[in-house]
Amino acid sequence: MELDYRNPGLRLDQAKNATSGQIGWESPSNIAIIKYWGKYGDQLPRNPSLSFTLSNSLTRTSISYAPRIKGEPKTGLNLKFYFENKLNPDFSKRVEKFFSRLKDIFPFIEELDLEVHTENTFPHSSGIASSASGMSALAMCLCSMEQEIFGTLADPEEFLQKASYISRLGSGSACRSVYPGLVAWGKHQDLPPAADLYAVPLEETQIHPVFQSFHDDILIVSRGAKKVSSSVGHGLMDGNIYAENRYEQARRGFSELLECLQKGDVREFGEIAESEALTLHALMMTSRPPFILMEPESLAIIQQIQSYRESSGLPLYFTLDAGPNIHLLYPDEIAAEVDTWLRETLQPAIGSIQIIRDKIGTGPQRFA
Ligand code: PMV
Repeated sequence: MELDYRNPGLRLDQAKNATSGQIGWESPSNIAIIKYWGKYGDQLPRNPSLSFTLSNSLTRTSISYAPRIKGEPKTGLNLKFYFENKLNPDFSKRVEKFFSRLKDIFPFIEELDLEVHTENTFPHSSGIASSASGMSALAMCLCSMEQEIFGTLADPEEFLQKASYISRLGSGSACRSVYPGLVAWGKHQDLPPAADLYAVPLEETQIHPVFQSFHDDILIVSRGAKKVSSSVGHGLMDGNIYAENRYEQARRGFSELLECLQKGDVREFGEIAESEALTLHALMMTSRPPFILMEPESLAIIQQIQSYRESSGLPLYFTLDAGPNIHLLYPDEIAAEVDTWLRETLQPAIGSIQIIRDKIGTGPQRFA
């Protein structure tokens, strides 16, 4: 039976506990190795994806809530949204759109005054997608509110599954951020628990220790806003003549990736990661209209990575999101060598560049 989270019983006249309070969650971004690109229906993926959750690129969000003052009309949302302590109308619209999709799942959000405060630990406008961390932090807060007020989400597994489902409605890739480590989203025959409606974490036995301390250093090539929003990008897949082959490629890559994660095959992992990254960009270049999302510096860095790998024999790889920034992927055991290469070879070759050092992480943390 299809999972259905609509619940008209979650109204304040059914509350078991206090109906005012504050909840806070910090939630990480994630980096996909097998990319989600192409969607249908209610933010459902055209292909399975697999990512790792990051550790330092976080959104920190709190929601204060109190019942609406008697006599005020009780329709619609009453939401104040602050980004870095300032009211932010643009972000607020996006959050309102997200919350208004949740009215049947969390009817109580329309009975409360809500004040949301949010900030990112990574620099603002660094070109890092904050929707995964931002939407998952909001989803974790809403699920905690449900548990605090109604006591209906006490089971940690049910809590996370619902938080992942809710995050997906905010931003597809956000559904993977609620879990630690390596996380899959989208049905696949080789991973029976995997689903389109929510993400699932891989078991520890499915991940070789070499991947349990993997690095992702993010080289910030451009801080500007994205050239194409991801919703436009996903939409362009509908007319892309390579789409069906791409979805097949992702399913095959997903199988291969599961296998090399278990075996500890870092080279195969890296090859898949790079092929996926360049495929994502190739898909954008073959869309109508076409888009080039890399900058000359992105290509220069990729060439430097490849030549370092060839000359040193070390397993340093890259991936990309739908933008020009380069994510350096490598196992912890070569961290010292990579650091030297960054300082002594890459920086002199391409000039000073901002680097956000990140690693595979343990998932969201509640702080209030
Ligand atoms: O979650 P969205 O709709 O912003 O899509 C993100 C898609 C990629 O970041 C390019 C790939 C992925 O799987 O995260």
